[in-house]
Amino acid sequence: MTSNEIRQKFLKFFESREHKIIPSASLIPENDPSVLFNTAGMQPIVPYLLGQKHPMGTRLVDVQKCVRTGDIDEVGDNRHLTFFEMLGNWSLGDYFKPEAIQWSFEFLTDKEEGLGLDINRIYVTVFEGNDDASRDIEAFEIWKKYLPEGRIYFLPAKNNWWSAGDNGPCGPDTEIFYDPNESALGDMTHDEFVKADDEGRVIEVWNNVFMQYEKKEGKVIGKLAQHNVDTGMGLERITMVCQKVKTVFDTDLFTPIISKIEELSNLKYGDKTDEEYIKEGDQCWVDTRREIRIVADHIRTAIFMIGDGATPSNAGAGYVLRRIIRRTIRFSDKLGLKSGSIDSLLDIIIEKYKGAYPELEKNKNIIKDEIKKEENKFRQTLEQGLKEFERGTDPFDLYQSYGFPVELTEELAKEKGIKIDRADFDKKLKEHQELSRTSSAGMFKGGLANHSDKTVKLHTAHHLLLAALQNIVSKDIKQRGSNITEERLRMDFMCDHKLTDEEKKEVEDWVNDKIKRGLNVVRKEMPLVEAEKIGAEMEFGAKYPEVVSLYFIEDENGNAISKEFCGGPHVSNTSELGYFKIQKEEASSAGVRRIKAVLE
Ligand code: ALA
Repeated sequence: MTSNEIRQKFLKFFESREHKIIPSASLIPENDPSVLFNTAGMQPIVPYLLGQKHPMGTRLVDVQKCVRTGDIDEVGDNRHLTFFEMLGNWSLGDYFKPEAIQWSFEFLTDKEEGLGLDINRIYVTVFEGNDDASRDIEAFEIWKKYLPEGRIYFLPAKNNWWSAGDNGPCGPDTEIFYDPNESALGDMTHDEFVKADDEGRVIEVWNNVFMQYEKKEGKVIGKLAQHNVDTGMGLERITMVCQKVKTVFDTDLFTPIISKIEELSNLKYGDKTDEEYIKEGDQCWVDTRREIRIVADHIRTAIFMIGDGATPSNAGAGYVLRRIIRRTIRFSDKLGLKSGSIDSLLDIIIEKYKGAYPELEKNKNIIKDEIKKEENKFRQTLEQGLKEFERGTDPFDLYQSYGFPVELTEELAKEKGIKIDRADFDKKLKEHQELSRTSSAGMFKGGLANHSDKTVKLHTAHHLLLAALQNIVSKDIKQRGSNITEERLRMDFMCDHKLTDEEKKEVEDWVNDKIKRGLNVVRKEMPLVEAEKIGAEMEFGAKYPEVVSLYFIEDENGNAISKEFCGGPHVSNTSELGYFKIQKEEASSAGVRRIKAVLE
């Protein structure tokens, strides 16, 4: 079964159980300052888990693009990835444990509609209970209908309680494991199972979260108004299980990329396991293979990030992307890939994924362009930076003067057997940057937006700003990216010139005028085709479901001065916003300008 078939089967399975298929949201969250990228399928669904009505109803199914870079240094082993796809089905106050468990079991084991996996190799864990919630006897009893009791294990919150961070919806979960070993492990006691999990001899393939609780600042504060189901199954992992291969890199999601790298580099990826090569003392294979995996993983991630509107920069999501591209270049150099190789890898990957993600094909030229530009920039800095590094320049100076990523300095230093003072670098970086949200490390754990009043207000101001730019500067201006923190909003937009002082002033005045007039902000749902017809602003690179939610800002006569595709939330009247001020207008990349603005 190919990965494409698995994606399709999953969507179909739940569609025939009255779920509506929704497209993957952009990798870059629109209104969530706590993460740079979506790290789980549920992130874009959070407002609906919290009770907002979803335009497509109460049963949803999708395949969501996700990025996790917290473990980027581990990529190269046989399992870590920076990009992955998460298959998920949702109940928003609709069905609960019995159906969720039954359908997970059926999808995994049914030979017609599902994946036809071996029932005798399935194990599950359920929540053992604590002060926040009682032992999940209900899930245990339901599982007993499908599996022998001895294959169901109670585990603590550390294992079986899921939340994306310190704030937001959360709840006990039940995790499904599969034994992929040639000779099956068979019955295991509780302790034997825990050990098999630790040692990676069973693989977690699917998580069903019963989202019924809410967390604030790390503490469970009570129950949500509705019970929800949030499930997540990593496509790469389940494909590995279905294709009976030992690592995600041996699935059809990676083999075409790896074959191309082999062809371009004249190197071999090898067909033994890492452990076998290590046992034979063949470190060479392991190193080469590690580099091949890093290139294959990173290039795929970079493509998806740019496809969703990210551009390399020195902060936030752009910095993560920059780091990913620069690592790709560096490791492809190590493999001896010639310049131009990256382009043919891009072709292979876009070809592989364009069916599921048409935005990649659509943005192919932008993707190629951005990567090429970043490669050129990096080669220049590399040349200068390497010279400086030989002279022993401080890692922070290298970073600041040459855009030399500290991780790269660390790697070079390691090769030379030198250690750099990372803590010192981090301190200087923090002092230097107005934004502390630059490093990818830690973001992974960041968690979900706590939609504070401040970010909600800035979000509405963001809509006004786009309308102002279109009214004052050029009606053709399109948004290219956005980011909102508690302190400020940031918008990237396509524009061929630096704004003049007059333009900036006029834009501010336009926005402040709309604030002063106290205009209504209204949410409406309508079919996608209709929303497109009325010319509502769409997010760059996003795909939308058949029915969408839009936000209108209406003047005194009910005419829309702003209409955008958006999930919200927003203030209900512009008078709540305060005074709007542009702090900075600068170039973001070629043809893209960036505005940072605040509400005072
Ligand atoms: N949200 C759950 C996860 O990501 C399903 O594991």
